[in-house]
Amino acid sequence: MVTIAVLNGPNLNMLGTREPTIYGTMTLERINAQLQERALLHGVTVQCFQSNHEGALIDYLQEHTPNLDGVIINAGALTHYSLALRDALVTSTLPAIEVHLSNIYAREAFRHHSVLAAICRGHIVGLGWHGYLLALDALTELLREQQKER
Ligand code: DQA
Repeated sequence: MVTIAVLNGPNLNMLGTREPTIYGTMTLERINAQLQERALLHGVTVQCFQSNHEGALIDYLQEHTPNLDGVIINAGALTHYSLALRDALVTSTLPAIEVHLSNIYAREAFRHHSVLAAICRGHIVGLGWHGYLLALDALTELLREQQKER
């Protein structure tokens, strides 16, 4: 069974009430429920984890990597500076897709750079919560292709 972790970083637990004009009104709980539904359709398992702490995300990756096939990650503000999270993702060697609800390139300059982008298979920005589902569709396909090639 293919298992994909969906990791969310700082402040994403506040979705629904946090700057709704930028991030929308869907709560993280509802996004995760949508992901679970989509995972059922694809016949894959999704494990959702959110933390406001950089180290907790790194610990999660270190602990769960042996049982994972891929990662979908919205690292929140850590995206822009966490080399430690980047190193943890590299160490995991898992294929990852980076997601941002907002279009980070259309916002403040400090959001334009992602330290994770270059080590991810792809990234999806600006499509709101749909981005998570699109990432799940894409990652499932990529992992299936990879399995066939083996
Ligand atoms: C975000 C964009 C980041 O710049 C910001 O710090 C977030 C959310 C997004 O999903 O658009 O926390 O990752």
